[in-house]
Amino acid sequence: MSEVPQAIGWGEDGRCVHLLDQTLLPEHERKLEIRDADGMAEAITSLRVRGAPAIGIAGAMGMVLGMERLIEADPDADRATVLEEVSRLWTLLHDTRPTGRNLAWALDRVAHAVRTADEATAEALAGRARAEADAILQEDRQLCDRIGDAGLEVFAGGEPRVLTHCNAGALATGGIGTALAPIYKAHARGQRVQVLACETRPVLQGARLTAWELSRAGVPVTAITDSMAGDAMRRGRVDLVIVGADAVAANGDVVNKIGTYGLAVLANHHGIPFFVAMPYTTVDRSTSSGEEVPIELRSEGELRQLGGREILAADAAAWNPAFDVTPHRSVTAFITDQGVIRPPYGPRLAKLTEGHGPETGRFRGVGGAS
Ligand code: MRU
Repeated sequence: MSEVPQAIGWGEDGRCVHLLDQTLLPEHERKLEIRDADGMAEAITSLRVRGAPAIGIAGAMGMVLGMERLIEADPDADRATVLEEVSRLWTLLHDTRPTGRNLAWALDRVAHAVRTADEATAEALAGRARAEADAILQEDRQLCDRIGDAGLEVFAGGEPRVLTHCNAGALATGGIGTALAPIYKAHARGQRVQVLACETRPVLQGARLTAWELSRAGVPVTAITDSMAGDAMRRGRVDLVIVGADAVAANGDVVNKIGTYGLAVLANHHGIPFFVAMPYTTVDRSTSSGEEVPIELRSEGELRQLGGREILAADAAAWNPAFDVTPHRSVTAFITDQGVIRPPYGPRLAKLTEGHGPETGRFRGVGGAS
C-alpha cells in the first residue's frame, strides 16, 4: 500500500509527541513537538491535529505528557496527587472539542487504566498511562485497516466514483483513515477509484487535506466546492458517498462535519447510496439520538476571513457550527471495523460496542484516590 502521512506519534526521545501541523497543509509539511498537556490542548483546539480518532489519540498522549510533567515537578507525588491530576487533565483535554466521541472514549480509557492499576508509585502509574495510550494508537491502526477491508464490499467491481466530505483519511486517524480506508485498499489492489472531495468550508479540510493525502498516494481526486455536490449528483457523476463520523448515537444518527446532512439529503434524493465509515470507538451508547450530542460552535473568524482577506461586512453576523446531525434513516449502511452494518441500527450498533470500555464522561472532575 502506498505510504500515507502520519498525523501523530511519539517523538524519538519519547518525551514529546510529534504532530503534523494540519493548519499549514498543503503548503508546508511541518512537524510540531508537543511537550505538555497545555500544548496538546492548544493543538487540538486550533485544529493542528483533527479528525475524531486522531483527536482521541492526541488526548490520550496529552494525558501521558501531563502526568510525566507532574512527576518531573514533584518526583515524590503520591497516588492521590496523581489521580487528582488525571481528573484535571481529563477536563482540560476533553473541553478542547466537545463533539467527537473518540476524545472522551480515549481519555476515559487512560484514566480507567491508571485508577485501576495496582502500582503505587507515580512513575509506575504514568507508565501504565503510556502503555494505554500506545495501545489506543496501535488499535486505531488496526481498526482503520479493518474498516478498509470491510468497505471493499461496497465497491462492487468497476471504477466507482466516490464523493467524500471533510477529511476522514490518514490525517484524521492513527492509520489509513475511515472513509478513505476502503479507497486506499481498493487502490492497493489495483481497482481504479475516483474521488470527488468537497472542499469543506470554512476551514477546507476537503481541499487542503483530503485532496493532498489522496493525490500523494496516487489516488485520482478532484476537488469541488461544497455547493457543487448536488449538481455533480444530478449529472450522474457520483456512484456513492462515503463520509466519516465524529459521533454516532445509539439509534444510528450521525454527527459529522457541517455539510454532511445536506449531502445525505441530496444523495437520498438522487438514489445514491450514502455510507458512513467509523470504528466502534465513535459510537456513543449514552446518547439515544444525535440531538443529544453537543455541537461545537467555532469562532466567527473562520467565516469572516478567506485567504487573509475580510469577506464579510463588519455589521453582518456569522454562525459557525462545526458539525451537523444526519438522521439514521438517511444512512444506507455503516462501514465498521466489524463489517458493514445495515438497518436496524439500534441493536446492531449495540452489538458493535458490546464489552468495549468505560462509558463517556466517567472520569470528568472525579478527583482523589480510589
Ligand atoms: O473539525 P474536524 O476537521 O476535526 O472534523 C473532522 C470530521 O468531521 C471527520 O469527518 C470525522 O472526524 C471523522 S475522521 C475519521
